[in-house]
Amino acid sequence: MSSPQNRVWASIDLAALERNLGRIRTALPPGVQYVAVVKADAYGHGLYQTVARLMQCGADAFAVANVFEGAEVREIGAGWPILVLGPILPGEEDRLLENDLVATISSPEEVKRFEKAARKAGRPLRVHLKVDTGMGRLGVWHSEAEALFAQLEQSRQLALEGIYTHFSSADTDAEYTKTQRERLIRVIQKMPEGTVNRLLIHADNSAGIDSFAAQSPFTAVRVGLLQFGHLPYKDSLLARLAIEPVLSFHTRVGLLKELPRGTPISYGRTYTLKRRSRLAVLTAGYGDGIPTPASNRAQVLIGGQRCPVLGRVTMDQTIVDVTDLKDAVSVGDEAVLIGAQGDERITVAEFSEWGACIPWETFCSLTKRVPRVYRTARVAV
Ligand SMILES: Cc1ncc(COP(=O)(O)O)c(C=O)c1O
Repeated sequence: MSSPQNRVWASIDLAALERNLGRIRTALPPGVQYVAVVKADAYGHGLYQTVARLMQCGADAFAVANVFEGAEVREIGAGWPILVLGPILPGEEDRLLENDLVATISSPEEVKRFEKAARKAGRPLRVHLKVDTGMGRLGVWHSEAEALFAQLEQSRQLALEGIYTHFSSADTDAEYTKTQRERLIRVIQKMPEGTVNRLLIHADNSAGIDSFAAQSPFTAVRVGLLQFGHLPYKDSLLARLAIEPVLSFHTRVGLLKELPRGTPISYGRTYTLKRRSRLAVLTAGYGDGIPTPASNRAQVLIGGQRCPVLGRVTMDQTIVDVTDLKDAVSVGDEAVLIGAQGDERITVAEFSEWGACIPWETFCSLTKRVPRVYRTARVAV
């Protein structure tokens, strides 16, 4: 109990991550490559441990947000292709080459800039062409992709290895996702067959996999959220895969006290006790990643029972009502913010809803103050 990880911690089950990868693979046609998306510290799960495990259990490639994340992944292992999904700022090109990273190309300007860097380094720079099929973020607009592709094909300095797009609404709008797929397919159909055959063609994020067609030209998927054990949306067909949550989020009871009816609770006095209440002050707050919109909304598990958060979540502490707990609660008892305790479970989806955010954001919001504790046992799939 003397270690800082006892005040608040995230438990990461790497065996569950491994099993999830195996199960996601079963949903894909054989030969489709698995690009593990590990940006933002592997969605808060810890880059090093996550990537090392994914390398051991068969990820084909990795995708990161920027060259710095890419360099970290390269430190962990040689050989795996590492795609940088984000734009490369002027001055960052050398890092691509130094770490053998694959850059994303969206514009003729980037082609020229990357060619210059590759010429200077005396070796080709690996790239994927990104096509904007309706996300409105990175990528060349689909009707202009042919021209950029031609420019890339002529380049001696750039090695085109893939082509991809990103879905904007795969979790909410199957029709629009279909339109986006078709736009990319039309771009591909205009390319010479010899070129297409050697490219990695990818579009699917976690939610996209629901509509991944066996007969499509796509040869890879880019999976983030799903591998960490959470469905991209509630009624996803991927529920059949029975993936498991990899991360759980824990804290402890730091103080117990009883206060009379009518007592206001926490900053701003947004809650007033409706009865004489027994309260537990937990040793975690928004400084650890409990979002402030969860004030007066969230629940935590103590003694396997749900206890409501009262008043505002503060930086270092959160107050919950333990009046109705069946069993006695003691200072030092564990409280689960995300995860299971007894027969109860709080999912990241539920936690995120209380926090007025999305599961991706919840994971990225667990702060540095939350030690990640790894469970590494190998468990058969
Ligand atoms: C370009 C790109 N591809 C794939 C992913 C993975 O998405 P998901 O976590 O929904 O699987 C992301 C995540 O934001 C992304 O930005």
